[in-house]
Amino acid sequence: MDVKDVAAVVTGGASGLGQATARRLAKDGAKVTVLDMNADKLAEVAGEIGGLAAPCDVTDPDSVRAALDAGKEAHGPARIVVNCAGVVHGGRVVGKNGPMDLAAFNRVVAINLSGTFNVMSQAAWDMKGLEPMNDAGEVGVVINTTSVAAFEGQFGQCAYAASKGGVAALTLPATRELCGMGVRVMCIAPGIFHTPMFGALPQEVMDGLLAKTIFPKRLGNAEEYADLVAAIVGNPMLNGEVIRLDGGIRLEPR
Ligand SMILES: NC(=O)c1ccc[n+]([C@@H]2O[C@H](COP(=O)([O-])OP(=O)(O)OC[C@H]3O[C@@H](n4cnc5c(N)ncnc54)[C@H](O)[C@@H]3O)[C@@H](O)[C@H]2O)c1
Repeated sequence: MDVKDVAAVVTGGASGLGQATARRLAKDGAKVTVLDMNADKLAEVAGEIGGLAAPCDVTDPDSVRAALDAGKEAHGPARIVVNCAGVVHGGRVVGKNGPMDLAAFNRVVAINLSGTFNVMSQAAWDMKGLEPMNDAGEVGVVINTTSVAAFEGQFGQCAYAASKGGVAALTLPATRELCGMGVRVMCIAPGIFHTPMFGALPQEVMDGLLAKTIFPKRLGNAEEYADLVAAIVGNPMLNGEVIRLDGGIRLEPR
C-alpha cells in the first residue's frame, strides 16, 4: 500500500514505538491521527508531524470512538492502524504479601489486550465498504504490538505475558475475519527497545537482558520498529503473522 495521503491512526503515539511510527508514517506522506492518554505530549508530537492529536483511553469504547471520529472528520477513515499503546507491569503470582492483586492483573490485560482489540475492531468497522486502494484489492492494514514476553515470559511477567499472548493469538482469527473486507492484520513482537518504557530499567537489569541478545548487542531503536511498520504496510503478502523484531533475543526465566 502506498501511504501517500492515506489516513493512519497510531495509538501510544505520544511516546516510544508509537511516536516513532507516527513520525515515520507522516514523513512518508500519510495523514496521521495520534491517540494516547498523555494529551500534552500527544499535542506536541502531532504538532511536530502536522498530524491530529486525539487524546483517548484505549480501554474505553466511547473514548476510542470519539478519537477515531475526530481522525475521520479530519482525514477520512483510517486505512492504516498501528496499536502501540501499552503498559508494562511486574508482579509475581505469589508475592511476599499474598497472591497478585487481581485488579492489577486485569488492568494490564485491559490496556494491552482489550485496548488493542477495542481500537482494531472499531477502526475495522470504519473500513467496512471502503473502496480498495489498488489492484491487490487492499482496503487497509492493522498492525498490533505484542512482545517476545508473549512467548518467553520471565519471572514477574504473568500479567504482561498473558496480555501480550492474547494480542499475538488474535492475529490469525482477526486476519481470517477481516480478509473478506480487504484488510490485513499483522503483529510485531519487539525484543528490548530504547523507549521510556524500558529506558528506566536499572543498568544491571539492562546489562543482563543485553547479554542474552544475539546480534546486534544493543537495544533496538524505535525507528527500527517504525521501519518494520513501513515494510508491512508496503507489502501486501504480509498477513496473519507475528514477526519477532528482537536481535535474536530469547528471554531466560529471569
Ligand atoms: N520498548 C520495548 O522494549 C517493548 C518491547 C516489547 C513490546 N513493547 C510494546 O510496545 C508498545 C509500545 O511500548 P513503548 O516502549 O513505546 O512504551 P511507552 O511507555 O514509551 O509508550 C506507551 C504509550 O502508551 C500510552 N498508553 C498507556 N496506556 C494507555 C491507554 N489506556 N490509552 C491510551 N494510551 C495509553 C502511554 O501514555 C504511552 O505514551 C507497548 O505495547 C509495549 O508493551 C515494547
